[in-house]
Amino acid sequence: MTSDPFASTGHQILASILSADFAKLGAEIEDALAGGADFVHLDVMDGHFVPNISFGPPIIEAARPVTAAFFDTHLMITDPLRYAPAMVKAGAQNLTFHVEVTDDPAKTAREIRKLGCHVGITLNPDTPAEKLWPAIELVDVVLVMSVFPGFGGQKFMPEVLPKAREIKKRLGKHQRLEMDGGLHAQTIRAAADAGVDWFVVGSGIFDSPNRAAAIAELRALIA
Ligand code: DX5
Ligand code: ZN
Repeated sequence: MTSDPFASTGHQILASILSADFAKLGAEIEDALAGGADFVHLDVMDGHFVPNISFGPPIIEAARPVTAAFFDTHLMITDPLRYAPAMVKAGAQNLTFHVEVTDDPAKTAREIRKLGCHVGITLNPDTPAEKLWPAIELVDVVLVMSVFPGFGGQKFMPEVLPKAREIKKRLGKHQRLEMDGGLHAQTIRAAADAGVDWFVVGSGIFDSPNRAAAIAELRALIA
């Protein structure tokens, strides 16, 4: 567990709490981290950019004292800059915005950077990689969505793998490639082969009665 995810270059497994039992969120986070997850992935949804509503800053703030692990925050919201300061104040350490919500992703990345956190950019499965190029050098992480965002437990879309490879070629050594959606024992190897550094796993961890065994299996598959 580290609060500086850029200190290490190896594969990292991020537990997406969207599939956790929210009634006992603190214990769920502790269980995933004790089981070997590296970071926590927080899915913020506004009911506009995606057809679902999850949680916002109060839940991040409540979860923050549970662990020192890195909080990677995936903003599935139409107005990231409006809410970014509150996310950082609550304890988010990386804010990843969707390129689809802005005409000027470089500006969005710069504005988030000013808040003193890490910056990520992400794109839906049907958004071309070219949309990222104006901001690619300004971000720490590029998140390739391997499902249409909004819900956990969806089927992995292998058609995004060529795009992931194309993006990876453009990243510097301090940048990370992340993938999110449908990653589990049957799909994670393909993501690793495409150059993914950070693997977001929701149902693949939290739907398993033994989180440590689930994470150990995933780690072995990408070793
Ligand atoms: C989907 C979210 C994901 C989700 C992944 O919109 O961005 O982080 O929790 O869940 P699984 O791993 O079940 O596909
Ligand atoms: Zn996510």
